[in-house]
Amino acid sequence: MDTKVISSGIRYSSLPESYIRPESERPRLSEVSDCENVPIIDLGCEDRPSLVRQIGDACENYGFFQVTNHGVGLEAVERMLEVAKEFFEMPVEEKLKLYSDDPAKTMRLSTSFNVNKEKVHNWRDYLRLHCHPLDKYVPEWPSNPPQFKYVSLSLSPSSSPSLFVCLSLSLCVSPVHRRRSASSLTRDIVRNYCMEVRELGFRLQELISESLGLEKDHIKNVLGEQGQHMAVNFYPPCPQPELTYGLPGHTDPNALTILLQDLHVSGLQVLKDGKWVAVKPHPNAFVINIGDQLQAVSNGRYKSVWHRATVNAEMPRMSVASFLCPSDDAVISPPKPLTENGTGAIYRDFTYAEYYKKFWSRNLDQEHCLELFKN
Ligand code: OGA
Ligand code: NI
Repeated sequence: MDTKVISSGIRYSSLPESYIRPESERPRLSEVSDCENVPIIDLGCEDRPSLVRQIGDACENYGFFQVTNHGVGLEAVERMLEVAKEFFEMPVEEKLKLYSDDPAKTMRLSTSFNVNKEKVHNWRDYLRLHCHPLDKYVPEWPSNPPQFKYVSLSLSPSSSPSLFVCLSLSLCVSPVHRRRSASSLTRDIVRNYCMEVRELGFRLQELISESLGLEKDHIKNVLGEQGQHMAVNFYPPCPQPELTYGLPGHTDPNALTILLQDLHVSGLQVLKDGKWVAVKPHPNAFVINIGDQLQAVSNGRYKSVWHRATVNAEMPRMSVASFLCPSDDAVISPPKPLTENGTGAIYRDFTYAEYYKKFWSRNLDQEHCLELFKN
């Protein structure tokens, strides 16, 4: 391959050898069901007991659900997607300045999953960032496109009269132009998005705690000062989507994942009763999934479910995944009421630092990483 990443703007006419899965591991796209979908939960529902029940059912039976009326502003979401798109549309040389295959880096552009461990590569590039605490990590975020990190232009006639006139005029030109200009004037796009998503995550953790019959702050208390990571995933059109994956089947190692998926191009699938089911993008919704840590805290009652991203030949696809993670020294352990049903604790206690290290030392599509922590 010429470059380390696949978002080079070049269309490949055939799939490079290193991406081809053996016959038995291929996605068999025609067998994926899109008749079924994961539950869609309206967080605006004012009947809290009903909401808690819906969340509990979804966590127990699917491990995945979508949420609407989630409190994250439409504008924050649209801007985030615009910036993500602009990032991957930059010239490949610019993007490669951020390239690293070292999972320990807190900001990097990379490709596939873990290029140093895996045998077959995946048709994905991704930008990975740490997002909490923001003041610690924002300085290392990409400085291109400029609005990724900051745009400190404030549109006020007093601060810069000539700029104000010039920008005001440009805002009146055409709807497309107006959108562009307005977006480049919005401050702290990614930062705001991260904060809003974090709030949503905490609300969900309260609902999930209650659905397990625990105090609403239980999960928050166990996980300590939570970290937050973001993966901006980019899946270019793939010449032979039947032979490879964007991401092969995996579970997420963190506590809770909040995924913003492309509204127009599907690709996310979850394993339900042994069959792969497509998660159809729903307007203004986030896809939520339980990660390995909540499976452990719930003593196996809620499942960190296998999921994967497939690719397609026509359209690039993007997603923005936000991961809430326990603090490194949080001891992951189920509460007493969940171990008193005769089985005891399924997993031994561990710290998140220990778990995370184990996760990245493996290939993505091996056995469930939690299996390695069973009692
Ligand atoms: C992930 C993930 C799915 C997608 O980043 O962990 O599962 O649709 N992404 O991009
Ligand atoms: Ni995932």
